[in-house]
Amino acid sequence: MLRILVLLLLLPVSVCALQGRGEPGYDYLSRWGDVSFSHWRHQNRVDTCEACHHLGINMGRCATCHGVIAGLPQHKDVLHKSCINCHWQKKGPTECSGCHDPERVNDSIYRD
Ligand code: HEC
Ligand code: HEC
Ligand code: HEC
Ligand code: HEC
Repeated sequence: MLRILVLLLLLPVSVCALQGRGEPGYDYLSRWGDVSFSHWRHQNRVDTCEACHHLGINMGRCATCHGVIAGLPQHKDVLHKSCINCHWQKKGPTECSGCHDPERVNDSIYRD
């Protein structure tokens, strides 16, 4: 009985902790080859969530503002900027095919 009580007490805490970290990964569909972003792996690489969540972790998804509110830089441009700037500094991939599915990258160069 005691063990069940402890479990019940812990459950909401661990569920909240997971929600607060977002999804393990996000996939972005693109004509240039889909991009698969390892969110949790990146959290362990960077000392502060604000490196990407520039208005704090409760700000919501980038697409709630970028590409929606007039005058703000476009979604694709801010993702490219934020991802690639750090990759230059910390030696992550900077080639198109480092993020975009390499087979589709080559495909679309010929198709576009
Ligand atoms: C560090 C990772 C990264 C690199 C390197 C990168 N991209 Fe992207 N790219 C993304 C992400 C993430 C998106 C998705 C943005 C979105 O959904 O709006 C994207 C979106 C795009 C889009 C818009 C989506 C579409 O289908 O039209 C184009 C075009 C694009 N990238 C081209 C390139 C090219 C060309 C290069 C190389 C010069 C490149 N990208 C390098 C991460 C990257
Ligand atoms: C390297 C960049 C990066 C880092 C570091 C990072 N995140 Fe994220 N996070 C993202 C991206 C990109 C998304 C997807 C947002 C989108 O597609 O609009 C996201 C999504 C989220 C979401 C979901 C938002 C929603 O409303 O659906 C939460 C919550 C979140 N992150 C929390 C965190 C926390 C907490 C940390 C630090 C421990 C963190 N993130 C570190 C880039 C990052
Ligand atoms: C609540 C609205 C909001 C959300 C959500 C948001 N941004 Fe922004 N972003 C802004 C505003 C406003 C600016 C322009 C003012 C400034 O430079 O701070 C901006 C500017 C930027 C810039 C600088 C662009 C430049 O050319 O200088 C980058 C990079 C950026 N955002 C990345 C992101 C990423 C990545 C996400 C998602 C993880 C995100 N933003 C989510 C509001 C938002
Ligand atoms: C604040 C720094 C930082 C930001 C922002 C960042 N990355 Fe990274 N990324 C890294 C580092 C560091 C590595 C790995 C270097 C290593 O250990 O090989 C990496 C590696 C990667 C890899 C290789 C596969 C993997 O996960 O190990 C991909 C793909 C990638 N990043 C995509 C992205 C995308 C897409 C974005 C933007 C949504 C992004 N990154 C934003 C630091 C960053």
